[in-house]
Amino acid sequence: MENGSRQWRFQGNKRLSLTSAISLRGIVEMLMGNLSTDDPRPTIPLGNGDPSQFPCFKTPTTAEEAIVDALHSAKYNGYAPTSGVPSARRFNRAIANYLNRDLPYKLSADDVHLTSGCLQAIEVALAAITQPGASILLPRPAFTFYESRAAYENLQVRQFDLLPDKGWEVDIDAVEALADENTVAMVVINPGNPCGSVYSYDHLELVAETARKLGILVIADEVYSHITFGSTPFVPMGVFGSIVPVLSLGSISKRWVVPGWRLGWLATTDPNGILQKSGIVESITGCCNITSDPATFIQGAVPQILENTKDEFFSKLMGTLKEAAQKCFDGIKEVPCLTCPSKPEGSMFVLVKLNASVLEDISDDLEFCMKLAKEEKVVIIPAGTAFGMKNWLRITFACEIWAVEEGIRRIKAFYQRHAKKQ
Ligand SMILES: Cc1ncc(COP(=O)(O)O)c(C=O)c1O
Repeated sequence: MENGSRQWRFQGNKRLSLTSAISLRGIVEMLMGNLSTDDPRPTIPLGNGDPSQFPCFKTPTTAEEAIVDALHSAKYNGYAPTSGVPSARRFNRAIANYLNRDLPYKLSADDVHLTSGCLQAIEVALAAITQPGASILLPRPAFTFYESRAAYENLQVRQFDLLPDKGWEVDIDAVEALADENTVAMVVINPGNPCGSVYSYDHLELVAETARKLGILVIADEVYSHITFGSTPFVPMGVFGSIVPVLSLGSISKRWVVPGWRLGWLATTDPNGILQKSGIVESITGCCNITSDPATFIQGAVPQILENTKDEFFSKLMGTLKEAAQKCFDGIKEVPCLTCPSKPEGSMFVLVKLNASVLEDISDDLEFCMKLAKEEKVVIIPAGTAFGMKNWLRITFACEIWAVEEGIRRIKAFYQRHAKKQ
């Protein structure tokens, strides 16, 4: 009755409606909604980096047992203890010990903050560095959550290119040109999503020296840490912590193939204590105090998961990804409208250039992906829409080998049907 005249005082938060515009999940859902319903063939999901549905990517039994033991102990049914008390520090220490295996100095439990997946570590990192007027340097292309979250925090974004012909390395000159007195941080994602790149020790050292020169910290997204299967080994950015302070972000989502378990961390890898002196550590703690913790039984399982997983699990996983990446790379070479500037060496993705001019009725990456989903039931990501890389496509090879092969076969058939006649 009163609907017509009543003036409601509330309305949606505009900052949130803006950030939802470019979610990867939204794009995948849109493509899934475009699949043909009369085609009896299975859908080939080469969009998301979540292979947990495939039997060959099943997490090790030791990790499952760690969860079961934590539940059966009945010690983890309450709220998580406040960070700082000894029982909470045990979990942080387990993560510090895990990270210390690859560092030239030692992190303590106090350097590690538990988060709900790496996503929440990104949220905490960006919240902790935000200042009025501050800007952050993000790679282009990058995992889109950074841009959305920076917009939410009112952090100004400036993008430096990654160079396809140099294994998607950071364009150092662009970083130097973009930074000014308001710039506070740069983000490095290594191994890379969406590029499948793995940076060398020398390149990461150069990034660290550049950031030092500019007086900015490095946010190192290492959610794909150790997921490497080429000639370049994984080097954590924290190795250069004495050159530049680093916020190292990670999780068990990818290496243990359990993205649903939501356990991640933010570590301050900064042996000179600069983050402490500048108040960043206090801001991180403050931010963690006003957000929710990961589920306590997952926290309780962390020491066992990190300490008891056998090397054979990781080597088998890398073997599968290596074979799948090779099949994907070789297959793409046989599709004339696609080129791949560099073979993926890590993470779960490859970025592929689309030459739409050789196709009859497809004008760009989005149309390519929409029609591919409709006609072939193959889901891949239009990188123009997802990452601002017009006429590029992101393909994940983190699938069963048969699915990668079948996906490539269908992409080839799709190309043949749509190729311009000579
Ligand atoms: C680069 C990057 N960072 C962070 C995340 C989020 O990780 P998590 O699932 O642990 O929250 C992802 C997930 O795909 C990612 O690709």
